[in-house]
Amino acid sequence: MIDLRSDTVTRPTEAMLESMHRATFGDDSREGDATVQRLEAMAAERTGKEAGVFMPSGTMTNLVAMLAHGRRGGEVLLEDGSHTLNAELGGIAGVAGLFYRGIPGHRGAMDLDALRESIRPTTRYHMGTALIWMENTHNRAGGAVLQLAHMGAVAGLAREHGIPVHLDGARLFNAAIALGARTTDIARHADSTCFCVSKGLSAPVGSILCGTREFIERARAYRRMVGGNMRQAGPLAAAGIVALETMVDRLAEDHRAAKRFAEGLRRIDPSLCDPRDVETNLVRVDVSKSGRRATQWSTDLQAKDVLVAPAGTYTLRFVTHRHITTADVDTAVDAVSGLWGRG
Ligand SMILES: Cc1ncc(COP(=O)(O)O)c(C=O)c1O
Repeated sequence: MIDLRSDTVTRPTEAMLESMHRATFGDDSREGDATVQRLEAMAAERTGKEAGVFMPSGTMTNLVAMLAHGRRGGEVLLEDGSHTLNAELGGIAGVAGLFYRGIPGHRGAMDLDALRESIRPTTRYHMGTALIWMENTHNRAGGAVLQLAHMGAVAGLAREHGIPVHLDGARLFNAAIALGARTTDIARHADSTCFCVSKGLSAPVGSILCGTREFIERARAYRRMVGGNMRQAGPLAAAGIVALETMVDRLAEDHRAAKRFAEGLRRIDPSLCDPRDVETNLVRVDVSKSGRRATQWSTDLQAKDVLVAPAGTYTLRFVTHRHITTADVDTAVDAVSGLWGRG
């Protein structure tokens, strides 16, 4: 099977498995675990923040960030298509007790005028804007990368109004590779940020939330509240350390594979996708011209040993990762080509 459903399907490397075997078994929620602490310190360093806290998932780091920034009842402003608004089951309101306002955007970047107009002070009539949120790379925008100038403009607006900024950096390292920037250059536009080691970086589990020491202390309390204490998490953190040490630079290969895939599809029919939109490892494909739904395409491709996730009625999302070779990309293009002409 050529599994293009997600970069989360990546399996741990041999080096990760060895490091897990040798890891410490301290209790992360009591006296602490040395391996977890080392991963958290590395994460803080990579994002230019004072501290980090290890959690089981990106969804939890986002949720805990909302809780730890506080201001229950306030509004969070985030791009309409953001993962948090669309795929994190309403935790923003249901658990964090925040209102949200989706801001229209282009390729994941919020419209700055709309954002400016949506910022509200706290008055007797409004709870006011509690948090401004960015996502880089942006999942639903097909792995689109927020430019540093845009992030700076958002951060500037937030600062003007004294509003904290959170960056959902689930694929922060993909963004850094695509921008040719350091992760610290990206994360400096946010007060808190998180990233996942469980996606293209190939570790089996884990995300780290980073921010000031004081923010992270509060985040530790909220992590406990939402059931995120992991006890003997050393082996998971050990894999995360190897991920950061060895898996970052190779993400460029995933980006090249995604581009090759998009170019192959474009040769089949330009309506499928525009390779210029493919900046990282995600490729959104529009199959509407075929008249067949994405779920049908997914079933038909599976019969040709290609796994893909439907991402809309007529949209498929293909994701390249460490286990996808150039030959796999070409096979997947051939599979789409074979199905395209079918009436
Ligand atoms: C941008 C973004 N944020 C957060 C998440 C959630 O991560 P997790 O699946 O680890 O909860 C994802 C998952 O794909 C994502 O793409």
